[in-house]
Amino acid sequence: MNLGIIGCGAIGTDVAKVADTLDEIQNIFLYDIDKARANDLKKLLKKAVVETFNEFIKKVDVVFEAASQKAVEDYAEEILQNGVDLIIMSIGSLFNDKFLLKLEDIARKKKCKIYLPSGAVCGIDGVLSASIDTIDEVTLVTTKSPKSLGKSYYKRTVIFEGNAREAVKRFPQNINVAASLSLAGVGFDRTNVKIVADPVATRISHKILAHGKFGRLRAEVENMPNPNNPKSSYMASLSAIATLKRIINPIQIGA
Ligand SMILES: NC(=O)c1ccc[n+]([C@@H]2O[C@H](COP(=O)([O-])OP(=O)(O)OC[C@H]3O[C@@H](n4cnc5c(N)ncnc54)[C@H](O)[C@@H]3O)[C@@H](O)[C@H]2O)c1
Repeated sequence: MNLGIIGCGAIGTDVAKVADTLDEIQNIFLYDIDKARANDLKKLLKKAVVETFNEFIKKVDVVFEAASQKAVEDYAEEILQNGVDLIIMSIGSLFNDKFLLKLEDIARKKKCKIYLPSGAVCGIDGVLSASIDTIDEVTLVTTKSPKSLGKSYYKRTVIFEGNAREAVKRFPQNINVAASLSLAGVGFDRTNVKIVADPVATRISHKILAHGKFGRLRAEVENMPNPNNPKSSYMASLSAIATLKRIINPIQIGA
């Protein structure tokens, strides 16, 4: 299998390092808008080359995106039109229903898949299963330090309360988990999101509360920040690697 990576930052680097050790992956193609980042990452790997998106798209089986919402908007359609599977980390990009339906339609026609890792949040498997029947309510409470939100508050402050569609628009780099939760459960308009800036917080915490015909779900994770990007949780990288392994492995665990 040949893997293309768009975005050689914190998550792209973590994924590339593991992909480099997997027998099932023969070649890794690295692309970053900042070429120096792709070149620096290449130096750490055995199987990697730096190429532009247009150079590698005809040679890959899977593309892993860990760049930005804009990168998903720019490249996702072309990836799928080439019949190539796509793993998306910037899941907030899918809040636009028309865009999401378009991608789904292309993937169906070209018989390829779009993978959305659960990312930095835990409990997505339960919400996904619960959504087969009625879910009455889903709420995400995200607590971060003001620094990781790029703000300065001196006391615990609720900085956002609303639905997931509004949350991903207002915090495109911080709240991808609201997007994955919405897509797994009751959609962007019915998923409630509360974002709290807490100067006492040393970890990024995501708490899911859901009620429905299945019963009641409460899942909370306290994430360590990624050492290379404090805005991203290390769990997001681990989830991306687990998704890559899921594509490779014959046994599929989870909902
Ligand atoms: N799904 C989740 O739970 C989750 C969790 C954390 C981060 N994320 C998202 O994953 C993405 C990557 O996160 P990260 O921590 O690795 O970020 P990062 O800033 O460390 O790295 C992003 C890299 O992508 C590159 N890039 C940006 N726009 C690009 C474009 N249009 N084309 C090519 N390269 C581009 C940048 O130069 C940078 O090297 C971000 O969009 C982030 O919001 C998702």
